[in-house]
Amino acid sequence: MNDTFLRACRGEEVQYTPVWLMRQAGRYLPEYQAVRANVDFLTLCKTPGLAAEVTLQPVDILGVDAAILFSDILIPIEAMGMRLEFSDKEGPILSEPIRNKSSVDRLIIPDTEEDMPFIIETIKILRKELENKVPLIGFSGAPFTLATYMIEGGTSKNFLHTKKMMFQHSGVFDYLMDKLTTTIISYLSDQIKAGAQAVQIFDTWAGMLAPADYKELVLPYVKKIISELKKEEVPIIYFVNDCAGILKEVKKSGADIIGIDWRIDIADAIKKLGKKVIIQGNLDPSALFLPKEKIEERVKDILWKGETAKGHIFNLGHGILPQTPVENVMAMVEAVHKYGRK
Ligand code: CP3
Repeated sequence: MNDTFLRACRGEEVQYTPVWLMRQAGRYLPEYQAVRANVDFLTLCKTPGLAAEVTLQPVDILGVDAAILFSDILIPIEAMGMRLEFSDKEGPILSEPIRNKSSVDRLIIPDTEEDMPFIIETIKILRKELENKVPLIGFSGAPFTLATYMIEGGTSKNFLHTKKMMFQHSGVFDYLMDKLTTTIISYLSDQIKAGAQAVQIFDTWAGMLAPADYKELVLPYVKKIISELKKEEVPIIYFVNDCAGILKEVKKSGADIIGIDWRIDIADAIKKLGKKVIIQGNLDPSALFLPKEKIEERVKDILWKGETAKGHIFNLGHGILPQTPVENVMAMVEAVHKYGRK
């Protein structure tokens, strides 16, 4: 098996810098679109044979060094008892958003085996299929990011309902964060027990917070999740989008690997996190629309700067965009493998 990704996660010597991409299975791939033409997104997530198939597509097509389970961060929210829909225009919609204590009361702590059996089944299929290929990454949304979807009822611009709950009804907010934390710990441990060889926690919206609020109201829950998951002894990646302003706090999460977005120079991020860090990132997803020579230049720059950290896993700074030309993605992966650390 190609274990370069896991070696880099542990800070060991590698033959080359490993690379995978957030949202590597998705609409930019014609092969994904072909599967999606026959099923809606949620059905795809819940059909193990199909979810496994689209998980494997980027491994075979791009030659990336890790697979990431095909699912969505909102799946456990549905299992907690909220109604989830995906609209092609607006993205996710959670009807009856959480605004008070009684709606948090009604949320259950789901049992993965019972309430999300397709997750376990997909992981088991994938471990068999990936045996001689690459490791499998499991994932979850972070409690704050999941809370924003539950409170706003979908994607938001300024997260007013979320912040109002944090500032005016902090007891309800804490109660929700606590339920989410328990859910995420059990969800990720079950993924690991089923076969996930590393896990990533996505904190897409934490960068919307003032540093002091992140530190006081959000970080303690992330720390708890990570310290509980350490027992499972697989690498834990914590990705925070728009992380620059809170990087010093993010470091305290205890994660083995810190994933960063592209708005910060990776050299500055390493300086802030310290040279012992294992870092993941951070090409701007839009840079994949540049001519190939320019993509190569940007890849080289990130790789060169990444050398100063104890370990570097190449990735985009956020999810790949649906309009991205596949040949440019292939050129990026090739450049990472060609110029990465030896
Ligand atoms: O990375 C991977 O390849 C694994 C699969 C994966 C998806 N979503 C598939 C997906 C992962 C890890 C996610 C995480 C996710 N989902 C996040 C955190 C990371 C991030 O991007 O910030 C968030 C915030 C979501 C919520 C979500 N899912 C939104 C807002 C949307 C709609 C926007 C969009 O791109 O359509 C989704 C849908 C979604 N999740 C798609 C995919 C492939 C597109 C669905 C389709 O086929 O139409």
